[in-house]
Parts: sequence; C-alpha cells; structure tokens
Amino acid sequence: MCITILGIETSCDETSVAVVENGTIVKSNIISSQIEVHQKFGGVVPEIASRKHLELINVVVKQALDKAATGFGQINAVAVTYGPGLVGALLVGVAAAKAIAFGLDIPLIGINHMEGHVYANMLAHPDPEFPIICLVVSGGHTDLVLIQSHGSYQLVGSTRDDAAGEAFDKVARVLGLGYPGGPQIDTLAAMGDDKAIAFPRAYLEENSLDFSFSGVKTAVINYLNQCKQKGIPVNKPDVAASFRRAVVDVLVDKTIQAAKSFDTKTIMLAGGVAANKLLRDELSNRTASMGLDLLAPPPILCTDNAAMIACAAYFKYLRHDFAPLTLNAVPGLKLGEDRY
Ligand code: KG4
Ligand code: ZN
Repeated sequence: MCITILGIETSCDETSVAVVENGTIVKSNIISSQIEVHQKFGGVVPEIASRKHLELINVVVKQALDKAATGFGQINAVAVTYGPGLVGALLVGVAAAKAIAFGLDIPLIGINHMEGHVYANMLAHPDPEFPIICLVVSGGHTDLVLIQSHGSYQLVGSTRDDAAGEAFDKVARVLGLGYPGGPQIDTLAAMGDDKAIAFPRAYLEENSLDFSFSGVKTAVINYLNQCKQKGIPVNKPDVAASFRRAVVDVLVDKTIQAAKSFDTKTIMLAGGVAANKLLRDELSNRTASMGLDLLAPPPILCTDNAAMIACAAYFKYLRHDFAPLTLNAVPGLKLGEDRY
C-alpha cells in the first residue's frame, strides 16, 4: 500500500512543502528560501520570517502538489515541524497543517525539526544498521545522538556555547562574507591554507563528548583585530581554511570517539553544517579506515527542507503516533520528546 505524506517545514527561513511516498520516494520538495530578504540584516529577523511564511505557505503547498502531480485527495496524512524553531514561523506551518488535516479528515503528525534532520538520511537509507551515532550540526544545534531504533534518541554530547553553524555564520560576518556564512566559508576555505593560522581546538575534559566553539570564534575575531592594528593585510581564504579545519577536527574526533564508546558501526551526519565539504570528506576517510558505515544526506537535504519532515512522519505513521488538532508550536522542543 502506498502512504503519501504532505510535509510542511517553516521553523526558520525556508518555507518548504514536500510530497513523499512511503518515506522514501520524494515526489516533490519545494524549498522557498527567504535568504535574500534576511541577507541585508545579516541574519534571520523572526518577525519578517513569519510574515513571509504567511505570504508563501498556500502557494508552496499548491506548488508541491502540482509538482508531485497529485491532489489533496491522494494525501494520507499531513506532517509539520512544531519545534524547535522561531515561534511565529512555526505557527504558520502548524496552522496550515491543522487546517489541511481537519479539512481532509486525515491524521496530523507533529515532527521535531531535529528529528527531521536525522531522517534526511532515511530518505535514501530507510533501513540503517542500529545503533547509530548521529552528529547533528545546524545553526542552532551541535549534538551527538545515540539512536538505538527508529524514534529512540539519547543525547550523549552537546555544545556548551555556540552551535557549529552559528560559529560559521559569525566568523563569516566578521570576514565580511554574506549570510548564511557556512557555505561561503566552505567555498573560500578551498582556496586557502588550513595550516596558515593555529586556531584553538576545544576538546574539554578527557572523554567529554561536549563541544565548545566560542573560543575558536573569539580567536578569529582577535586575529582579525590584531591584523588591523598592525596594518597587516588579511588573507581571507587562509583564515576561512584554518577556521574550518579547527571546527571540523573537533567534530570528527568527537564523533569517532562517540562511535567507539557506544560500539556503533554506523555514523550519520545531519543538519545544515553536514553539507560542509571538509566535514564530509574527513568523516568519510576516517570511517572507511575503521570499517564503519557513514551515512550523510546529499547537501540539498542537509539544510532545511520538508522532504525530511515527511520521511520522519512516515515512521510515526507506521506507529500510529498522531498529534491532536490542538497541536501547538513548541520553540524549545528537545529531540526525543513529544509535547502534544
Ligand atoms: O539545518 P539548517 O539549514 O538550519 C537550522 O536548523 O539551523 O542549518 C543552517 C546552518 C547555518 O548556520 C549555515 O551557515 C550552515 O548550516 N551551513 C554550513 C554549510 N551549509 C550550511 N556550514 C558549513 N558548511 C556548509 N557547507
Ligand atoms: Zn534545520
């Protein structure tokens, strides 16, 4: 039997709607990015994001159905991100999903945005070998998660200050690059020498699986200030390459350490920073040399999109884990908890 799920994602600055069959066949995945609107402010402005979602949501739902050559009548359930994220932005998706579920009398499925990022992997690999260590790296999160089975998450490491994506965005800003900074640093770094500047790597206490990126971020800012004071020209590609290397070294070492500690054979990457070229290459080399499996979504599915939400929802659909029509946005929702 074919289960068709309409997924909706509006937690930050992309309005995205997807139609996915049986959790794996992406019939459409429309991602309408607001990046241009927010770029002039150097980051996402929550109030503007909600208004844009409101303008776009019905249009994007229609585009997703049209592209999938399907109609509301063929949809078996509607899934929506209800947290974590910007409350006003989340509410637009949640309200739209509830209206569709009510109007069509079909189940409503509430999805945690971070769980969606994890499930971007399952679109191509619905049957991975558990247990899995997943490195979830986005603009708001840097987490190491032990996944024992579908829907079972244990947080084993997390950032104590900035998220990795946040550090990329802040460093990009001080280098005068645009928003979002991660992709721009990634591109610039390819032209630089990653050994040019010795930025610090924070490993914290022995055996700790936690992260800290505020130190490396401050080190970059101090380095740029010193260059300015001394009148030394800044080699931006070298700064980008050395910074990217410092962040990736720690992410890779701690992910491998977690896989060893919990004796997992599979490592997964998830979240926007998982699109980072060096992170993917380094983890791929390290896992190959250790005989571990590495799963990483294609770069377009690493950043926010609704196909990953519809994929996560498929596994909840199979468990009959449905949300009531009273579902609300939960901006601080944690991975592994449901609040409905
Ligand atoms: O998952 P995502 O799209 O949104 C959140 O849930 O936060 O992640 C966005 C983050 C931004 O901080 C962006 O700079 C970062 O992912 N990012 C990257 C790359 N592509 C996106 N960071 C490093 N390298 C990249 N190639
Ligand atoms: Zn995200």
